Amino acid sequence: MDKRRIVVTSALPYANGDIHLGHLVEYLQTDFWVRYQKLRGNECTYVCADDTHGTPIMIRAKKDGITPEELIAESYKRHTADFSEFQIKFDNFYSTNSPENLEFCKQIYAKLKENKALDFKSIPQLYCPTDKMFLPDRFVRGTCPKCGAEDQYGDSCEKCGATYNPTDLKDVHCSVCGERKLETRESEHIFFNLEQFKEYLRAWLKDHTAEDVANKLYEWFDEGTTLMPWDISRDAPYFGFEIPDHPGKYFYVWLDAPVGYMASLKNWCTKNNEDFDAWWNNPDAELYHFIGKDIVRFHCLFWPAMLHAADFKGPSQVFVHGFLTVNGKKMSKSRGTFISARTYLDCLDPAFLRYYYACKLNNTTDDVDLNLEDFVQRVNSDLVGKITNLASRGVQMLNKRLDDGMGVMDEEGLKLRDEFLSRAETIAAHYEARRFSQVPVEVCRLADLANEYFDAKQPWATIKTDPEATRVTLTNILNLFRIMAIYLSPILPVYAEKAAALFGEQSYTWEDINKKLENQKVAKYEYLASRVPPEKVEEMVEKSKAQAEAAAAAAEPAPAPAVPLKPEIEFPEFDKVDMRVALVESAGFVEGSTKLLQFTLDLGPLGKRNIFSGIRAYYPDPQVLVGKKLIVVANLKARKMRFGVSEGMILSAGSEENGFSVLTVMDDAQPGDLVS
Ligand code: MSP
Ligand code: ZN
Repeated sequence: MDKRRIVVTSALPYANGDIHLGHLVEYLQTDFWVRYQKLRGNECTYVCADDTHGTPIMIRAKKDGITPEELIAESYKRHTADFSEFQIKFDNFYSTNSPENLEFCKQIYAKLKENKALDFKSIPQLYCPTDKMFLPDRFVRGTCPKCGAEDQYGDSCEKCGATYNPTDLKDVHCSVCGERKLETRESEHIFFNLEQFKEYLRAWLKDHTAEDVANKLYEWFDEGTTLMPWDISRDAPYFGFEIPDHPGKYFYVWLDAPVGYMASLKNWCTKNNEDFDAWWNNPDAELYHFIGKDIVRFHCLFWPAMLHAADFKGPSQVFVHGFLTVNGKKMSKSRGTFISARTYLDCLDPAFLRYYYACKLNNTTDDVDLNLEDFVQRVNSDLVGKITNLASRGVQMLNKRLDDGMGVMDEEGLKLRDEFLSRAETIAAHYEARRFSQVPVEVCRLADLANEYFDAKQPWATIKTDPEATRVTLTNILNLFRIMAIYLSPILPVYAEKAAALFGEQSYTWEDINKKLENQKVAKYEYLASRVPPEKVEEMVEKSKAQAEAAAAAAEPAPAPAVPLKPEIEFPEFDKVDMRVALVESAGFVEGSTKLLQFTLDLGPLGKRNIFSGIRAYYPDPQVLVGKKLIVVANLKARKMRFGVSEGMILSAGSEENGFSVLTVMDDAQPGDLVS
């Protein structure tokens, strides 16, 4: 059979968060599939990248006091470390903030424009005068105009499901800074005219994604809003790519993100001396996107339409999976089931999760449940108890009692081996069709046969009476184990490598199942997999809970920093300050100043004073101060200001956050009295 040429992608993880076990549902199944294709000898290239642009990343960087570039560089390190420790092997893991991506975005944009797929029109946008930025829907909060639920996003209500424009919200405010006086400003935006591709998409969906996914989208087709013009532009400030000929306008992150698939492939091509068109635009090459069901709209509508409009080849298939639940429920921070890849790695062997996810994954959009008890049970009884034990007992007995030497297989063993090999095409078909859960099912059935044989032969007993017959038994067993290791190798690549090393072999290809190992040495047994300690699972949940609590505490607004104490002074220095009681005769605004109030004060025998004080913000109605007795520093040298001369200083107390109020004194104090 001819080699297939296949490009495979997983959705690009956002660069503002860590990889968690939910993400791994996707990256692991993609990795299984890619490794299977490679094992079969196909030319398969797996590309991915960090999704680095957009408002959330810009705001997150600002909060952390770093540049977006620094933020995404940090994420890149964390993401690639997590992936590689989970044995996820990308051919290229790149970034959407790359020159290749900019180039493709420009090229696609020019094509869309040329092919009349874009509309330019001015739209009203909410603008936060405090943050000096246009607010994307997700950064606007307010009361739902339909059901009255408070604190809803700018695009839809989580309570009643209504969708609306952010300008329809009541009590609308900026979720970044809380500003309530939002402006509505007109801004020109660029729209991709999706409606134009309705018939193209209708036909495309039929052949390029699962039936239930296509049917769901067809339903949306008729709802009216699904194919509305898609706004592909955002106003500055925005972390992303500026749109050619539109200074101050940027490509919306969801435009440049899928283009990042091409950019990552292009970058891989450059590094490997390959031709991009021979991989992407080649009609004989295949292109598959693995995605979660939350981003179907982007991958099955916008993306194929965009590629079509820009004269690029589209995906062969979009494979859509469901969401992770833990113990039957949505991942939850408070229950400790929102588990990051790193926390898992700190507690458990990544091979366990790879194996367990394989047991649970299939080619539907059903959610995938990680039941923690079942996880321990399944790994311990099947992977360790049924499969690995065959190798550990077999090899160790050869090591200890039979000089590491394998013998020959006998008829019984060869018959079993035929049975094992007869499952090859079935197992291969399961991989190809992404029915991953069927692979461990098949392999475990084979392992049961091998264990029955092992138990019937009782090598632990015969080793004392008939070592050569025992050698035959163990040779049979190890050949059977080896076939299972190859079948599982896309799921358990490191495990399979270790198995290969036991037999003095290099990494496997699918055809290696047909090889028989006889009359050769085995290496000293090396650990393949040991049981999952249940207390480690507990520890992982507890750690996740603690992390969530710590993060919540850190998100609380920090207490205002105390103003540091001024340097110490001696009493004579303090005694130089002459403070007096003063009666407010009049108080009012100062024309042209947003900060100052003007006071006329009566200091009794000391006469009258004109004083400016910077407390306007705290006294919207200065009249309330008239008749009050305050404290002034009376011997402060007069200061000439833009609005007049200030003859002293009024004492007030407070803080920047909570505001200041003037210090008043008891009624029996008289103007001009000393304060000390
Ligand atoms: N950045 C976008 C994808 C752009 S692709 C051009 C994005 N990023 S994500 O980090 O939120 O998600 C990455 C992938 O992980 C998506 O396919 C998403 O569906 C998947 N998952 C994220 N959380 C998940 C679960 N809890 N369960 C299963 N898959 C999940 O979306
Ligand atoms: Zn704001």
